[in-house]
Amino acid sequence: MTVRVPAKLNLQLAVGPPRADGYHDLVTVFHAISLFDQVTVEPAGRDRVTVTGEGADRVPADQDNLSLRAISALRAALEDRGTGPGSVHVTIAKRIPVAAGLAGGSADAAAALVACNELWATGLSQQQLGAIGATVGSDVAFALLGGTAVGRGRGEQLTPALAPATRYHWVLAFADGQLSTPAVYATLDRLRAAHAVEPAGPADPGLPALPEPDLDSALMSALRSGDATRVGQRLSNDLQPAAVSLFPALRKTLTAGLELGALGALVAGSGPTCAFLAANAERALELAVSLSGAGVCRSVARVSGPVPGAAVLAAG
Ligand code: C5P
Repeated sequence: MTVRVPAKLNLQLAVGPPRADGYHDLVTVFHAISLFDQVTVEPAGRDRVTVTGEGADRVPADQDNLSLRAISALRAALEDRGTGPGSVHVTIAKRIPVAAGLAGGSADAAAALVACNELWATGLSQQQLGAIGATVGSDVAFALLGGTAVGRGRGEQLTPALAPATRYHWVLAFADGQLSTPAVYATLDRLRAAHAVEPAGPADPGLPALPEPDLDSALMSALRSGDATRVGQRLSNDLQPAAVSLFPALRKTLTAGLELGALGALVAGSGPTCAFLAANAERALELAVSLSGAGVCRSVARVSGPVPGAAVLAAG
């Protein structure tokens, strides 16, 4: 059973203050893009995982692997119902770079859930799989859903965005290095604490240090209009200053893409991948060629979005 699953961008990523559980409340606009991993699941004597392709040596191949963790969570949920499915061998063919801000690990976990749901004829709904997946990664539920969607909570509470069938053309600039998502969130908290302005009056301990994150209505209106120029102007990512401070070379990459004609630029999720929006497929090709010639990244890829979430490719 083989499932194809997309990477994601966040067209908006608004981050609130840290919560007691260490996570941050988000308001985000997810956008699934045509950069896919393929995950195959076959019955086996014991659960194991084999990883091939882009960055395979940096993906854990033991029980820490997010796909195996998702499968364990699915099995635990099924055992409550009295069914006990068997062990599996998971093969992950990676094209989504590892620790790049594109939710590759969550994508593989989502694909494993869809594959096992089919293999075991479990019949769980996408929403039920999403609830199980959210226990192993904040972006798993979106990798199941795909398209363009607003995410809240840790990112797992999703509402599909109503938008015309516009195809957006992106150029991704992959960096020569990785960023750890927890480190980027922690850096954002530190940067915010360092720049906190003392309130003018007596401090009110009941007031939150930061306003709750809010959906960018101008971005949503731009998406409804299908106008790439307007979308490009409204791309935003609260994690970007933290990612750039940990990976200063990204500043040059972002500037280069904008100078070369991108409609908008931002760091993908927690980075270090940078994403550039182009007016159309032709402009994306020109931008990709110029960016790779500018020597400001390891490699480039052209992708488009939105695309559907994790879907079965072939049974067998
Ligand atoms: O859920 P996921 O495993 O993708 O998150 C990785 C890390 O990113 C978390 O351990 C946490 O440090 C940070 N994170 C966060 N708030 C979120 C999502 C992720 O602080 N909403």
